[in-house]
Amino acid sequence: MIFKRSDIPGEDIKRAMSMADKRRQLIEETPATPLVYDYGVNRLARSLHPGIVKAKISNKEQCGSDSCRITLSAVQGKFPYFRAGQFITLSSKVNDSFISRPYSIASSPKEALEGKIAIIVQKKGIFADYLINEAAIGTELSVGEPSGDFYHDDLRDQNHILAIAGGSGITPFISMMKAIKEGSEDFRLTLVYGIRKKEMMLIDPDEYKDERIRIITVLSDEEREGYRHGFINTEILKEFLDDKTNVFMCGPDAMYNFVSKQLDELGFDKTRIRKERNSVGDRKVEESKTYKLTVHIRDEVYELEAKNEETIITAMERAGIPALVRCRNGSCGFCHSRVIKGDYFISRENDFRRSADKKFNYIHPCSTYPESDLEIEIPIFNV
Ligand code: FES
Repeated sequence: MIFKRSDIPGEDIKRAMSMADKRRQLIEETPATPLVYDYGVNRLARSLHPGIVKAKISNKEQCGSDSCRITLSAVQGKFPYFRAGQFITLSSKVNDSFISRPYSIASSPKEALEGKIAIIVQKKGIFADYLINEAAIGTELSVGEPSGDFYHDDLRDQNHILAIAGGSGITPFISMMKAIKEGSEDFRLTLVYGIRKKEMMLIDPDEYKDERIRIITVLSDEEREGYRHGFINTEILKEFLDDKTNVFMCGPDAMYNFVSKQLDELGFDKTRIRKERNSVGDRKVEESKTYKLTVHIRDEVYELEAKNEETIITAMERAGIPALVRCRNGSCGFCHSRVIKGDYFISRENDFRRSADKKFNYIHPCSTYPESDLEIEIPIFNV
């Protein structure tokens, strides 16, 4: 109802007094049908961002000598479409702990639409041990929606990607190669795959034959015909680099340091290098200390011990507290939580908080270490 100011004295008061009647009349004339709140765009947003999807292990197979390929099928909800190169977070109760870990997706986006997602798990760590040795076919897990920006983007990247993978860091590139072969991605990919021995390879290069894909395997610990030997050095890199190429790297920190130095020597433009970030691990401290960590989740309060060399999220997981977590490197902001009181440490390279977060004492527990007794408030984990 629009109320226009009148220039005639007293007229506004008269009109204001009659508004109640007009309003009553409008209410009576309005049909009682409920308002529409669920538009097509809301349904699309829900299908792309379903939050946590319940899934079960539908297949497990040995992959290379030290890894296992695990296929997950959605049992409640649907896996959303994703960009080849992204990761998911798996969460599950393991003994008394509640653990989450990010895994790059090794299947193609098309397979997600068929209700399946595959990951490759290397035998390393407590959660990997659980997935490989204890979790049987049919075991249910919570799967967080695909995340991360480690994918080819036509607007941002050149049409040729030099993909440098170390060990299990090949996983996001497997998804990219599948997507190229299936036609959902259209760029050229040269994969330089560094691994110790042939038996540890996680792919059969023959499966990815395509005019847009080239695979070069570099074995560091053995010499074999048809394979390069040694490390991914300037000699190998300059064969494939030109000004129409971007470099994508995924692997251990040692590989990032070594290859970054080689690219530097070649004078390659740093802005055209992208690295998949690794999870933040334990911190080196002069003296190991244990503090009291108090965690509020809505009306629940938990008290537990947290060490100064481990992240807050690690302490919570060990205590079995279901905490929201995705990237585990401080960059996505998903675990964004408020510090009520206490001191903490975040390294400069893993502090991706906004200035307002810093001002109002918000942290990302996946990249934060306690420096005193600490009291925090974290978001609820809805499964
Ligand atoms: S899980 Fe991404 S910032 Fe903590």
